[in-house]
Amino acid sequence: MSEAKNVIVTGAASGIGQACARDLADEGHLVLALDLSAEALDAAHPGAGNSLVPFAGDVSNPADCENAVAAAVDRFGGLDAMIHFAAIHSSVPWSELGADEFNRVLAVNVTGSFLMSQAAARPMIAQGGGSIVLTASGIVHIGGVGGAGRGGPAYASSKAAIIALTRSLARSLGGDGIRVNAIAPGATETAMTAGYTEEARANVRNVAALGRMGRAEEIADAARFLISDPASYISGEIMNVNGAASFA
Ligand SMILES: NC(=O)c1ccc[n+]([C@@H]2O[C@H](COP(=O)([O-])OP(=O)(O)OC[C@H]3O[C@@H](n4cnc5c(N)ncnc54)[C@H](O)[C@@H]3O)[C@@H](O)[C@H]2O)c1
Repeated sequence: MSEAKNVIVTGAASGIGQACARDLADEGHLVLALDLSAEALDAAHPGAGNSLVPFAGDVSNPADCENAVAAAVDRFGGLDAMIHFAAIHSSVPWSELGADEFNRVLAVNVTGSFLMSQAAARPMIAQGGGSIVLTASGIVHIGGVGGAGRGGPAYASSKAAIIALTRSLARSLGGDGIRVNAIAPGATETAMTAGYTEEARANVRNVAALGRMGRAEEIADAARFLISDPASYISGEIMNVNGAASFA
């Protein structure tokens, strides 16, 4: 394990974020686990000790992002890393997609990623460095049509924006010693993919060379690596974690 770090994990009440927050705390890091509901966080992390602090907040709300970062700095004495998984899904197909749904998805998935990063970067700059991991998706390689629980155009577009945001922040913050990367998971067994039909699951098995969907822990492991000391020269990178999914 690299040196113990003070970390914020968003989307920590479910799926990949839940696994990441739990595994970081188990490994000896101090984790502020952010999600929308305190009840959901308590259910996801029963009996969490001092190393995992639940924080209820909405990442599309600037004040909540600032408050979460302030709480982590206050409680832990600093902030070394922010791993951002919080996002919403949208399976609405193009013909039914309206401005309200599109803007709702962008507000959480894109603006929320920026707001959390901006808030986290400030104490990292004061501290002399840090690490941020955002979450894109394998869907950006092929786009998404929606339906059957799969991502549609609004979700796919929101995840594509994360790539440009990651590279922009890596360039903006590199001079302050802050690394910014993203992971791009392939289809992973979580609440987000619970609506997949058997046909959609079979399609994932066909496109992934490993012949199966990912597990939340496997995606979380990649993010944990990216904030670790052995990743000290990796920045601006989009890491695919998708079982060698072929989109050709
Ligand atoms: N599961 C997949 O197949 C898959 C594939 C590619 C990318 N991803 C990405 O991985 C990340 C994690 O996804 P998951 O599968 O674990 O999803 P999930 O639905 O299981 O968990 C997402 C969590 O984010 C929280 N959240 C949603 N909106 C929020 C907000 N405004 N403020 C705070 N928290 C909020 C939810 O409450 C939920 O606990 C997401 O960014 C998702 O887009 C997932």
